[in-house]
Amino acid sequence: MTGNVYVGAMSPTGGTAKVAAMLCHGLSLHGVNPVKFDFLTPAQRALVPNFEEDDMVIFCFPVFTGRVPKSLTVWPQLHGHGSLAVVGAVYGNRACDDAPREMAALLQDHGFKVIAAAELLAQHSLEPRLAEGRPDAADAAWLSEFARQLLQTATDFKAGHLHEITIDRAPYKPYSPHPHPIVLNPARCRSCKVCSRFCPQQLIAAGGIADENELTAHCINCQACVARCPYHNRALPPQAQAILQQKMEQVWLNNQARKENRACFGQHN
Ligand SMILES: Cc1cc2nc3c(=O)[nH]c(=O)nc-3n(C[C@H](O)[C@H](O)[C@H](O)COP(=O)(O)O)c2cc1C
Ligand code: SF4
Ligand code: SF4
Repeated sequence: MTGNVYVGAMSPTGGTAKVAAMLCHGLSLHGVNPVKFDFLTPAQRALVPNFEEDDMVIFCFPVFTGRVPKSLTVWPQLHGHGSLAVVGAVYGNRACDDAPREMAALLQDHGFKVIAAAELLAQHSLEPRLAEGRPDAADAAWLSEFARQLLQTATDFKAGHLHEITIDRAPYKPYSPHPHPIVLNPARCRSCKVCSRFCPQQLIAAGGIADENELTAHCINCQACVARCPYHNRALPPQAQAILQQKMEQVWLNNQARKENRACFGQHN
């Protein structure tokens, strides 16, 4: 490759970041030092690198209810300028459903050429028994081989031997209804601003307080604020938590078997 290789991650609770780090390591084993960037928050998305035609950009993001997180669907600063893109949909052992093709379409609409898409495993952020401990050593080995394949695919594409992947643009499944806004105990809040800095939807004021109507309308339940509050002060209210746990128990029962990472690439001419 003549241009840069970028690896970007949106990682509310750290699983996607682990996958992205393993992919970066895999690229480095094949002689490429990628440029990393985060796109969790609106501030980070506004500072997205200025990609050029010779670059390849790998987008790692979490699958939420079989879709791309809503926060990414409005991203006016993102411009591909004809660079190559790879979809890295990270999920928690249930299913990716529409998320990979939705992200591929989104990237194509932003001026990227999408040459590959992958479904990658990380521990489920709502039910830790799903994909527990992943990504693991076997995932790291898979991601290293994937990195090699991506570099070869980019070279083949630039030489005119490959097409972009085919993107099915049929309507997507509806977003699942949100269980309940995540709340905090104001008495225990130390106003440290961590939750406010990491909310991908910018819903939390600096003092930790969020407007309940805004939360109901726009919270994507990503768990960033829950996972990052140093004082464990953010959670679903107990009743909503119980309903979610019941639902996740069912998801666990239906998806106990280990699933494997997989990828598709643009077809040869
Ligand atoms: C609101 C929400 C919805 C999710 N939906 C799915 C899903 O549809 N399928 C799946 O396999 N995993 C699902 N997951 C699990 C995440 O995709 C997975 O844990 C991912 O690694 C989270 O990334 P993070 O650790 O970077 O936050 C969901 C997690 C959350 C919080
Ligand atoms: S308020 Fe909702 S969208 Fe914002 S960080 Fe918390 S869970 Fe995510
Ligand atoms: S991270 Fe926790 S303690 Fe800090 S402002 Fe948010 S709720 Fe308050």
